[in-house]
Amino acid sequence: MEWRPDRASEVPLYKQIANYLESRILNGEFPPGSRLPSERVLANQWKVNRSTVNCAFEELRSAGLVSRIVGRGTVVIRNLPGSGTKQFPNWDMYVKQGYYPPNNPVNQNIYRFIRADEPMINFAIGELSSDLQPVELMKEAYSSIELNNDLGYEHIQGNITLRETISEHMKTYRKIESTPSSLLITSGAQQAIHLIIRGLLKPGDSVAIEDPSYAYSLPIFHSEGLHTHLLPVQNNGIDPDQIITLHKRYRLKMLFLNPTYQNPTGTTLDLERRRRILEICSKFGIAIVEDDPYSITGYDGTSIPSMKSMDKEGLVLYVSSLTKIIASGLRIGWILGPQTVINHLADVKQQFDFSHPSLPQLIAAKLLSSKHFDEHIMHLREGLKIKRDLTIRSLEKELKGIISFSVPEGGIHLWCKLNDEEIDENLLFKESLKKGVVFAPGSTLGSKHNYIRLTYSRVETNCISEGIQLLAQSLRELE
Ligand SMILES: Cc1ncc(COP(=O)(O)O)c(C=O)c1O
Repeated sequence: MEWRPDRASEVPLYKQIANYLESRILNGEFPPGSRLPSERVLANQWKVNRSTVNCAFEELRSAGLVSRIVGRGTVVIRNLPGSGTKQFPNWDMYVKQGYYPPNNPVNQNIYRFIRADEPMINFAIGELSSDLQPVELMKEAYSSIELNNDLGYEHIQGNITLRETISEHMKTYRKIESTPSSLLITSGAQQAIHLIIRGLLKPGDSVAIEDPSYAYSLPIFHSEGLHTHLLPVQNNGIDPDQIITLHKRYRLKMLFLNPTYQNPTGTTLDLERRRRILEICSKFGIAIVEDDPYSITGYDGTSIPSMKSMDKEGLVLYVSSLTKIIASGLRIGWILGPQTVINHLADVKQQFDFSHPSLPQLIAAKLLSSKHFDEHIMHLREGLKIKRDLTIRSLEKELKGIISFSVPEGGIHLWCKLNDEEIDENLLFKESLKKGVVFAPGSTLGSKHNYIRLTYSRVETNCISEGIQLLAQSLRELE
């Protein structure tokens, strides 16, 4: 658990805070020259008055540890007692000048609620609630692992048993033929996308992404110097002809698609468009990344053929993960692609992290090959449908005519339009946070404003209607 001042202690709160910050200054977590978080941030974090944090800062100032400068905040002084005349690296400058820019501040705000102590009704994070995760199967899988006295580095493409299991799984559940040698295990689909970008593209390359999309929310496209061109998502996916227009202007190298139960719109690219996109990409030599974490969640058990299963020319790099069907914390994803690509990306991954951790791979292999896996998938589909229906019913009760949406047939996201264009979804986000509800404002996922994404998979079923009521209250307060 994160540190918090102890309200039951006899030591005053401000003193506890001052002592805690002092120890962090003296052990180098806040080195000389660095700035302490603001009074407001710390007061929010520890649920104390700003004046309490102010007293703690004053205490540190009288101890000669920090200086307080209007406009610059509270800065650890450079000549800490005992430090003589040493020079210290300016960490703030390193952070500012580093290769990777920070996440969008709204996303940072959302991510701080992952595993946070604060109880929030969370419609923002794309993961499963605990009742939808196969907890018993995971425990069984965990206890049945035999370690053979060896926890050395794994094969650079990932554990062979897991690759064999995933290959079987894709054949059964996704009608995709593969061999274990053309698979690379990754830390979720997120790392798969990063590896593809870093391993196969270079600064200045043009790629096309869906608008809105998960890809849109990833800063990596821009930190790697790629030019992203947007393909608007309609009810049945992107318009294939727009790929031709973009390609003629920008020479696209790669197309990133999440064609089934898309994040965030919940839409599915129809079969005819899939065929046409494959045809176009084959004609112009454009590689396709099919990001497919959701396809087996289709609530009625049917599924549209994946683009990978339709691809006979090796155009598609298929990416998926266990996040949306087992558990996000396992961090198991994979890439299926042409052998030369997989060899290279395995080599790049080896340069990043040597090899993927063994234990989650062994657990995942057991889970996917369990005779109860199929039951789990049925339970998951049913559970997601219940959550979707409850979310929709609550929205219809609380916000009829105020919010509109299309109903997704699988996946975990509901893409909602705020009918009153005057309402700013970022203000709504702030207002809802105050009431204990968090969702993703549409502008973090695409170029359009006036949308919000409600992800219903993580919210405990008995909290959905309360969450929507609080969202509705927040909206009314902005009207
Ligand atoms: C379309 C899509 N791709 C990739 C990811 C990354 O997920 P993970 O890395 O947990 O597999 C997400 C997560 O929400 C997603 O929606």
